[in-house]
Amino acid sequence: MSLINKLIVAVVQLMPKSVVGFFSKKYIAGDTIEKAVKCVKDLNSRGIFATMDVLGESITRKEEAIEAKNKCIEVLDTIVKFKLMANLSLKPTQMGLSIDEDFAYKQIKELVEKARGIDNFVRIDMEDSPYTDKTISLFKKLRSDFNNVGIVLQAYLKRTTSDVITLNKMGTNYRLCKGIYIEPATIAYKDRQEIRSNYLKSLELMLKNGNYVGIATHDEYLIKEAYRLIKEMNIPKDKFEFQMLLGVREDLREKINKDGYKIRIYVPFGEDWYPYSIRRLKENPQVAGQIFKNIFSFEK
Ligand code: FDA
Repeated sequence: MSLINKLIVAVVQLMPKSVVGFFSKKYIAGDTIEKAVKCVKDLNSRGIFATMDVLGESITRKEEAIEAKNKCIEVLDTIVKFKLMANLSLKPTQMGLSIDEDFAYKQIKELVEKARGIDNFVRIDMEDSPYTDKTISLFKKLRSDFNNVGIVLQAYLKRTTSDVITLNKMGTNYRLCKGIYIEPATIAYKDRQEIRSNYLKSLELMLKNGNYVGIATHDEYLIKEAYRLIKEMNIPKDKFEFQMLLGVREDLREKINKDGYKIRIYVPFGEDWYPYSIRRLKENPQVAGQIFKNIFSFEK
């Protein structure tokens, strides 16, 4: 990343919330469930699946976590009501993982149970490394009772292939992504090619074991390599899907869809959009650069 992009990324966080909101619009379906439904219906009409995420993370009180869980219940009810081709993604800290592990487990269990009753699925997102072990152990506990729950692993973590080997033993529905949080070099690869290589190694291990994998990336190199692996390993189409974020590389998602592969878009929505938007903008210095220009341009 160029120095100017690094600078731009650094100032994104200092920008007024309204400006961040304006430029984040493409990454977020809206602040209400009605707007999310409209977005998902639009994707579904083009044969694209969705996973719905009520924005929010790192809450500090149990009441907030219960409120977040209730919003997830509303999402599951809404999926049924509108017959959406969608499932639910959630963040463990949003369910209270940083407050009380057992409490978070019970909250997520309630959602997985509810999802099972309507033939739906819950994906547990992976957050930063203080929560990796706790999230995996919570998932394992759920997995022993439910088939309709999956986890996310991050290819930038050096531990990931060993986690795959452990989780493969119980038959796991994975989402594999590169990872978005800033982690120390002691535990995470920093080099782009090293991350890619760990991604492919993990993907191969997952597929070889017959697991279902959500291949979550916008990296054309990885998508090409995933196509190759799938072909070489003769992986049936009901054992994987591609996944992308709303508003990112729409050209590529259309191509994957046209190629006849299943694709699912992560559709975040809700009032608590700010931290998610900052992460997306930091990933995309071009957009951040545009914000910068608009703020500081005198040519109005
Ligand atoms: P990379 O960052 O190299 O991007 C490849 C290309 O995609 C870029 O060159 C650019 O063209 C484009 N691109 C990427 N991000 C963009 C953006 N914001 N705006 C515009 N263009 C962009 N992470 C995590 O830690 N825990 C999780 O649970 C999840 N969940 C998750 C679900 C889904 C469905 C996806 C697709 C991703 C996640 N992630 C995640 C995020 C993931 O870890 C990662 O940060 C991003 O996907 C970016 O990595 P890529 O593999 O796309 O490669």
